[in-house]
Amino acid sequence: MTSPLFKTWAEVDLSAIVHNIRRIRELVGPAVKILVSVKADAYGHGVYPVSRASLAAGAEWLGVSHVKEALELRAYFPRAPIMILSAGMLGHSRPIVRNDLVPVISSLEIARDLGQEALSMGRRAPVHLMVDTGMGRIGIWHENFLPTLEKMTRVKGIRLEGICSHFSTADRPDTSFATEQLRAFNAVVSAAAARKISFALRHIANSGALLGIAESRLDMVRPGLMIYGIYPAPHMEEMIDLKPALSLKTQVAFVKRVHPGRPISYGRTYICPRETVIATLPIGYGDGYSRAHSNRGEVLVRGRRAPIVGLVTMDQLMVDVGRIPEVRVGDEVVLIGSQEGESITAEEAAGRIGTIPYEVLCQLGKRVSRVFKNEPAAAPPQ
Ligand SMILES: Cc1ncc(COP(=O)(O)O)c(C=O)c1O
Repeated sequence: MTSPLFKTWAEVDLSAIVHNIRRIRELVGPAVKILVSVKADAYGHGVYPVSRASLAAGAEWLGVSHVKEALELRAYFPRAPIMILSAGMLGHSRPIVRNDLVPVISSLEIARDLGQEALSMGRRAPVHLMVDTGMGRIGIWHENFLPTLEKMTRVKGIRLEGICSHFSTADRPDTSFATEQLRAFNAVVSAAAARKISFALRHIANSGALLGIAESRLDMVRPGLMIYGIYPAPHMEEMIDLKPALSLKTQVAFVKRVHPGRPISYGRTYICPRETVIATLPIGYGDGYSRAHSNRGEVLVRGRRAPIVGLVTMDQLMVDVGRIPEVRVGDEVVLIGSQEGESITAEEAAGRIGTIPYEVLCQLGKRVSRVFKNEPAAAPPQ
């Protein structure tokens, strides 16, 4: 299956998203809510189809990063609960309240701004308070939380619906720091309860914690990576059966025979050591396929691995197909995904260039057409 306009595409199998969410549901049970992290265009997969499939599979919430992402999502899903997970909302209280978006907040300043806006509309804005238990990013440090919370309870126009935190190391085999974060979070929640302040939704678990620290599931989990079928860490592969949703594909655009000693691509970083066949593929760093794959990456052609030779350029890269018989223009090439029983995972592609699968997926550019397969038939009203 190819895009009619461009010969490089990402195939997103929505039945894999549904499968992964159902496996998560089996793990967490019916009482725990699932917020799917669909920020950054659903980790590069395409936010609308992934959100639709996630809600159809039984996820209750959609989580995005910024107000802009939330508003774009709201236009498609008039009723789905949408949470804004990152900071940077000051000055945006009106669209947040008007569009029933639920912000995660870390300061009194934003609480007051939201409250004022909500009051002017005769409403109370639900908010979730972020506690920093060791991530060192957003949130109120857990040691200082109670005094801030007491002031929060006096802010008019807001409703303290949730309390949350975020792990920094939950995907590691050594869970000691993550367990310490969970302990700090639970301590804050208990101290609030002792002051008769309770929250309907307590949440802290990302994918790594959802799998690795069962006690962290609380009232809601916030998986991202897992819903796309990627394991947070190799030691978690036995814990759940996930299916990768995205395959990155292209087609051979040009083939030529080259003699020993011929240089390939900018900078002449690769000199052909023997007579071979070089295939040119219409994908490059302009599509978000990192230049770090130069002279290092591999692709699948005719079910076999072919090495990337020379520097990856903006729009094209070259692979040595000398050992693969009869490679022709138009042959399908897989950069991430499976072909005839062989596969290259996002984890492998990331590991090869010293990064994480999150980055490999999020980087896929606009020029890469997204082709969606197996859209679930019956989505509930959203
Ligand atoms: C606040 C928050 N919750 C949940 C997630 C999902 O994390 P993961 O993709 O590791 O499951 C993220 C992603 O970075 C996040 O920032």
